[in-house]
This record gives sequence, structure tokens and C-alpha cells, in this order.
Amino acid sequence: MAGFLDQIEPLKQSALDELRAAPDLAALEQARVNYVGANGRFTALMKQLGSLPKEEKPAAGKAVNAVKLEIEAVLAERRAQLELKAALPQEPTDFTLPGRRRTLGKLHPLTQVTEEIVRSFRKIGFVVADGPEVEDERHCFDALNTPADHPARDTQDTFYLGLAAPAPGGQEPPRQLLRTHTSSVQIRVMEKQPPPVRIIVPGRVYRRDNADATHNPTFHQVEGLYVDRGVTVSDLKGTVEFVFRELMGPETRIRFRPHYFSYTEPSFEIDFSSPLTRKMGKEWLEIAGCGMVHPQVFENVGYDPEVWTGWAFGFGIERIAMIRYGINDIRLFYENDARFLRQF
Ligand code: DAH
Repeated sequence: MAGFLDQIEPLKQSALDELRAAPDLAALEQARVNYVGANGRFTALMKQLGSLPKEEKPAAGKAVNAVKLEIEAVLAERRAQLELKAALPQEPTDFTLPGRRRTLGKLHPLTQVTEEIVRSFRKIGFVVADGPEVEDERHCFDALNTPADHPARDTQDTFYLGLAAPAPGGQEPPRQLLRTHTSSVQIRVMEKQPPPVRIIVPGRVYRRDNADATHNPTFHQVEGLYVDRGVTVSDLKGTVEFVFRELMGPETRIRFRPHYFSYTEPSFEIDFSSPLTRKMGKEWLEIAGCGMVHPQVFENVGYDPEVWTGWAFGFGIERIAMIRYGINDIRLFYENDARFLRQF
């Protein structure tokens, strides 16, 4: 027993000295293997425990364990020091130099304007609804009371998708197209839920327009739909005025001009006037279409037009952004030129 215990202390001392003196991680690993690896010197000592007389085992075991814990603690401490040292720059370093800045991205101007529009409508109780960009003719046109001979349905105006094969013996599959306006979502929402409805629908739409300063084959709209009992044109006017004042400044005025849309009756175009329009050399600029929801549209979605009334509107987000920021070419929004995008 005395022989065994006598060996522990010097072995411990040399193990700790060697660990503490290891100049790098490789040397530390070598020291670890030398003492507590499978064939290490301390491991060998531990293996002798089994051959000690029974009454000596407890004290010897306790001593060996205490040393083992101490070696492990010193090993971990030295490893942490050496790892830190390895991670630090080898060259002399000036830690007072400014850091390298990561350039921050920002929201696209169209996203910013969309978020502002949504925020304004939320204040007065509207919620955002969504619908598919690949639509069928029923949601895009028929249910909106838009007749088959309407020019918007012309293949010159509209992106139709390839026809799916008809089911054997079945009906013609519905023709699919990229939606030409967000008005299709009016139908989708009313089909899904009973009135009242108070939604806005920001989203992407598609038309076969050639790109020029004011046209692009894909652009964005915001649709609005409000259905309840006793809804009137003055509700519509008040709502539009509130939102456009938020978007275009408190001096904004709006006016309604009679117009035609097949899904509203009466229908209007909305013009607005503000310091922004005057800056563009115009008193009034056309900005949106709207009207009272046509009774036939209510019939088409199973709402009783004797009970429910409503209004709807739609406007282009690019147009709002162009007026607000004084942008003169719509194509700038889609070019992803950072010099343009950084300005907003
Ligand atoms: N869908 C029309 C367009 O794309 C805009 C519009 C007009 C939407 C009148 C409406 C509305 O909801 O009532 O030009």
C-alpha cells in the first residue's frame, strides 16, 4: 500500500507540470496520452488498483480518483487557454481599428409602399386576404360579371396557360391564366365566407403589355372589398380619402368620375390632387377604379343582394410609388439596380 500511494504524488506532479507547460494543442494532446491515455502512466497505476489487498483498496481508490479529477481539470483549463491562443491572430493586431461593416439590405420600395397601404387599412379594420396568381376564368372574369367578349379576356391581353387535357368523357377543364387583376380574390373570399367582409388584397398581376415607361407585363395591385348591410358610396369615398391622405399627405383631395366596370354599379374612376400631382404638372391624376358591388356578383357567390351591399376598389401599387417618389419609369422597379434601390 505504502508503495502504491508513494507513486501517486510524484506522478501527479509530473503530469500537471507537463500539461501546464504544453506550448500548443498538439503538445497538450501528447501529454494527455502519456498520462491518461490507454497506455498512459497514470492509467497503468490505476490498473494496479485491482491487485491491492482488499482493505487497502478504498483509500487507494480515493486517492487515485482525486488525482484523476485534478488532472482532468488542469487538462481542460490548459486546452481552453491554448484554443483561445490558436484562435487569436498570429500577427500583431490593432484591436482599435473599426470593424468591417456588413452592408444591410433594405425593403424594396414597392414592398415599403405595400406595407404602408396595408398599415393604413388595418387602422380602419381591414384584413389582408390572398389568392392564387394562376387563376381560372371563372374567378378572374365570369363570376365578376365580365362577359366572354370583354377585351380583358382577349388572348392579346391575357396570359393563358396551356390547356389541361379534358377528363375522359368529362367537361372541358376550366381555362387557366395568370390573373389580370386582384379582383379575382373578391370572388374567392366571398365564396369561402359569409358576409360581412372587409378585406384588402395586395398582389401581383399580369398582362400582355409591352414594357415601356408606364407599362410592365407584371405589376402589383391592391384590391379592397367591403360588404355589409347598408354600405354606401359615401363610405367608399370616406375610406378612399382617409387612405390616400395617409399615403399622399394631408392636403390630398379626391374626386370620383363616372366610369364602367362590369362588377360594380355605379362605377367610378378616382382622381386625386395634391402637391405631388402639381409637382408632376397636373392638378388631377387618375389613381384607382371603384364602385358599388354589382348585384349579379353577389348572386354569383351566393350572397343575397337584397340584404347585402358593398363596394370595391382596385389600384396599382407601382403608380402610387412612382407618384410618391417621383419615379418616371416603371421598369426601374424590376431591374434590381442597387443604385436605384438604395435611395428608398
Ligand atoms: N380590376 C380593375 C383593374 O384591374 C380595378 C378595379 C376597378 C377593381 C373597380 C375594383 C373595382 O374592385 O371595383 O383595372
